[in-house]
Amino acid sequence: MIQISSNMDGLKIILLFAILISFSSATTVVDFCVADLSFPGGPAGYPCRNPSNLTVDDFVFSGLGVAGNTENIFNSSAFLAIDTTFPALNGLGLSMARLDLGVGGVIPIHSHRVSEVILVIEGTIIAGFIGSDNTPYYKTLKKGDIMIFPHTLLHFQVNIGKTPALAFVSLNSASPGFQTTTIALAANDLPTDVIQKITLLDATQVRKLKTIFGGTNL
Ligand SMILES: *[C@@H]1O[C@H](CO)[C@@H](O)[C@H](O)[C@H]1NC(C)=O
Ligand SMILES: *[C@@H]1O[C@H](CO)[C@@H](O)[C@H](O)[C@H]1NC(C)=O
Repeated sequence: MIQISSNMDGLKIILLFAILISFSSATTVVDFCVADLSFPGGPAGYPCRNPSNLTVDDFVFSGLGVAGNTENIFNSSAFLAIDTTFPALNGLGLSMARLDLGVGGVIPIHSHRVSEVILVIEGTIIAGFIGSDNTPYYKTLKKGDIMIFPHTLLHFQVNIGKTPALAFVSLNSASPGFQTTTIALAANDLPTDVIQKITLLDATQVRKLKTIFGGTNL
């Protein structure tokens, strides 16, 4: 009897482990889930395309070898490989981007839900982030340097060199949710007087930003 009972206990333990393992591997029940962008995305990303009609080309994204157009107000460009442009990233928790900064170019202060690592390939960039206690962490980066921008914190990059700068970044989400502070304030119909109140900026400055970024309710 004792022998049978202990066998039963052993079986129960094995079953418990099997259940625990199946729960803990719940996020890896499929190898991949290439996004079907014809459906809306949710907190868990997009539904999967049918694996039977995928090819290797669905897992390859080209174009990061080409310099972006930096003829814009920030003299910079960010070419994003994220879920909406590279659907194979869906559900895998990572993305990449190519940053080109013309001479004097800037990636303006922005944030996203997830962390980022930058690798400088060419040029001289001041990169930094601001801690939640308002401490700025910034440094001049050169070719081969990498730096971390922790999740949700405001951060920026400025080309201070005499030549164009090139960097690649990687983020630990396929859908990082980029929010550029200045554009978020000015590129919409939030009224100038509200923006003034919530930022202490002058009305003239707010109207200038709204004009640059196509905002209304000046
Ligand atoms: C592949 O499957 C997806 C989702 O089932 C479908 O939307 C798409 O049209 C299919 N593509 C081809 C080429 O059959
Ligand atoms: C910066 O962008 C402006 C357009 O806003 C453009 O006229 C100028 O050539 C650019 N400069 C560089 C160095 O890319």
